[in-house]
Amino acid sequence: MLLLLVMKERMLSGVKPSGRPHIGNYFGAMRQFVELQSEYDEVFIFIADYHALNTLQNREEMRQNILDLIIDYLAIGLDSKNVVLYQQSRISAHTELAWVFDTIVQMGYLKRAHAYKDAEAKGVDINVGTFNYPILMAADILLYDATAVPVGKDQKQHLEFTRDIAEKFNKIYGDIFTLPESIIVESVETVPGLDGRKMSKSYDNTIPLFASREEIERLVKKIVTDSSGDRPENVYALHKLFKSEEELAPIYEEYKGKYGELKRILAEDVDAFIAPMRERRAEIAKDVEGVKEILDNGANIAHELADAKMQLVRDRLGVVL
Ligand code: ADP
Ligand code: TRP
Repeated sequence: MLLLLVMKERMLSGVKPSGRPHIGNYFGAMRQFVELQSEYDEVFIFIADYHALNTLQNREEMRQNILDLIIDYLAIGLDSKNVVLYQQSRISAHTELAWVFDTIVQMGYLKRAHAYKDAEAKGVDINVGTFNYPILMAADILLYDATAVPVGKDQKQHLEFTRDIAEKFNKIYGDIFTLPESIIVESVETVPGLDGRKMSKSYDNTIPLFASREEIERLVKKIVTDSSGDRPENVYALHKLFKSEEELAPIYEEYKGKYGELKRILAEDVDAFIAPMRERRAEIAKDVEGVKEILDNGANIAHELADAKMQLVRDRLGVVL
């Protein structure tokens, strides 16, 4: 009998609880969590609450956002029976491993991070946590030997950093970390926000994933359109997420130049897509205790794996006698 040693394929990803998830988060990353959950041996999806601390420093808001995000994860279709759902802050090995990585990564290397360069270009003095962001993210991923990490395009560099950090550690202390692959849907360009910039919680230009019909209509009306040309590109770019180009062609032909009409149709399509998830979310939100229990279970499973890995790391570092 041929015995094959098959490596476990483990998918892992996370989102910060820094505000309501939006359709950019969904199409860029969260949808892939759901679509791929049955393709891997193990799936870990977490709430990057310690990363969110860089921008959110308010106790009540943090608590609410964490609770909201776990409900969101369930509402988009993550199956808590097969997916380990947990909070980053409850597994102290994440920050511990980040410290270890701090000691092998050079300042000059981290200064190449887009987020840091943007801040530098704007002349703003960022906090150390923002500078170190990619290191904590590398720890999030490497701690669990994740093989696949679905993220939006803007996270590509962070995944490259993660691989570099793994290689560097492996070179110094011996091979113990698995190099992860990023899973990026190239066809989903960075989803534009209402103002045409990248849709982002930090720009206040989003259409929340669980927005009400009224909210969707109000927000879609706010999409900034170029007044020249037949086709409002910002409207079209969002529309493409909900209908195929073939379906859209006759609509954009019929309503050429009629931006108001096109926005009305977009709002309808967004709502038709969101409505079932919104209803599921309302159901799940009724059982807060059940939802917290899911996070407790997830923490127990993640904890065990993370601790075992950290023990191995400490041994390699030479701090175990
Ligand atoms: P935000 O920029 O709104 O704070 P996050 O940084 O929490 O979003 O991103 C969560 C996930 O969603 C990441 O994988 C990120 O790449 C993806 N993402 C965020 N904004 C967009 C966007 N406008 N288009 C596509 N993907 C996005
Ligand atoms: N940086 C990611 C974002 O902004 C969130 C994140 C933190 C993450 N740690 C991660 C994503 C580990 C994937 C894997 O969206």
